[in-house]
Amino acid sequence: MNKELIAIILAAGKGERMHSEIPKVLQPICGRAMLEYVLELVNDLKIKRKLLVLGYKADLVKKALKQKIEVVIQKELLGTADAVKTAGNLLKGFKGTLLILYGDHPLFKKETIKNLIEHHLQNKPDVTLLSAKVRDPSGYGRILRDGQGNICKIIEESELDEFQKSIKEINLGASCFEKEKLFSVLDYIKKDKSKNEYYLTKAIELLYKNKAVIETVKLTDIEQALGINTYLDLAKANRIMQMRIHQDLVAKGVRLVDPQNIFINYNVSIGEGTIIYPFTVIENDVKIGRNCSLGPFLHLREGTRLKDNVVLGNFVEVVRSKIGKKSLAKHFSYLGDALIGKEVNIGAGTVTANYDGKKKNRTVIKDKAFIGSDTVLIAPVKIGRFATTGAGSVVTKH
Ligand code: UD1
Ligand code: MG
Repeated sequence: MNKELIAIILAAGKGERMHSEIPKVLQPICGRAMLEYVLELVNDLKIKRKLLVLGYKADLVKKALKQKIEVVIQKELLGTADAVKTAGNLLKGFKGTLLILYGDHPLFKKETIKNLIEHHLQNKPDVTLLSAKVRDPSGYGRILRDGQGNICKIIEESELDEFQKSIKEINLGASCFEKEKLFSVLDYIKKDKSKNEYYLTKAIELLYKNKAVIETVKLTDIEQALGINTYLDLAKANRIMQMRIHQDLVAKGVRLVDPQNIFINYNVSIGEGTIIYPFTVIENDVKIGRNCSLGPFLHLREGTRLKDNVVLGNFVEVVRSKIGKKSLAKHFSYLGDALIGKEVNIGAGTVTANYDGKKKNRTVIKDKAFIGSDTVLIAPVKIGRFATTGAGSVVTKH
């Protein structure tokens, strides 16, 4: 977007408030690590140079990421100001603008951050903060303004007095800073004693005292404002992201009978005319054709491929399996590691016994086969074209 702009993404934190071994930025939202959403946004903005600050379990985070990105390691987790300083070590001669994003804000849309950058580059203040007015500001840094309405300070939750608690304007972490201005005050930030951290937000007060120009871009679509610190936040973010996924699918002609009770992960492809009934869960790496009828109470897991006009009914689980055109499995079934042809009828209660205790084995069912109710297919096994199994069969050989 602009040569003079470098993005820094802060993602070194542990996520203490989640009490989890998994680094916070790897926590999944609709089947995708939180940080991936932020990195995708930065990519979409076509920012040439981006630095990702990692710390807690940095190797694990690096390995989990789907893309390569320049990484800086923050050795000790001494707060957001320290994280920016660490990135600064790689930006010694740089005199342009820094876009700072937090890895725990996965819900911003591209336009939001684009507006923030454009405001900053056009109006040329020293700092532009993304802020929002919310009904419940608890947990966020509050933006304090002076008598003239200029931003003079950000106050973190732990330091609020009674009056300040009523401030509804919050800091969303996303910001543009003129790099030299910011770095002129970073060394003067005092450590917060309660958390033993240097807060980036303290730079605002120092810059204000130095007569810097500090502006905000206000985010009105409050849904995007959510920052993820707790599992409750994560659950809320999951809901919001899920709604976006649903909206995309519905726009493409997929019918979701009751979206609130249908769970579909990020990047699942579903063809036009497919109808999905409640309590269907579709995980990562699933591709579904057109005009299928799915659910209720269906679980599609990784590696599921459904061709057009497939019908899968209640209490069916499918994993690592391909199902051909017009095949049906309408009532309770487990289909794992199976290659199923066209127009196959899978009777109620059919199970592929794919696991022999050591490895997973394949079941092949050819076109137009008829699998009777309660058939157990002990894999590896093959059922030929037009073959029929009787109800209650246990098929061990072919
Ligand atoms: C921060 C802001 C707060 C704002 C809120 C928005 C500060 C001091 N406060 O609070 O004003 O309202 O975000 O959600 O910035 N990180 C590092 N290294 C560290 C510490 C944190 O890289 O040493 C990263 C974290 O991985 C995270 C981000 O910085 O992605 C923010 O840290 P977090 O501890 O979540 O800050 P908040 O308390 O949410
Ligand atoms: Mg946070």
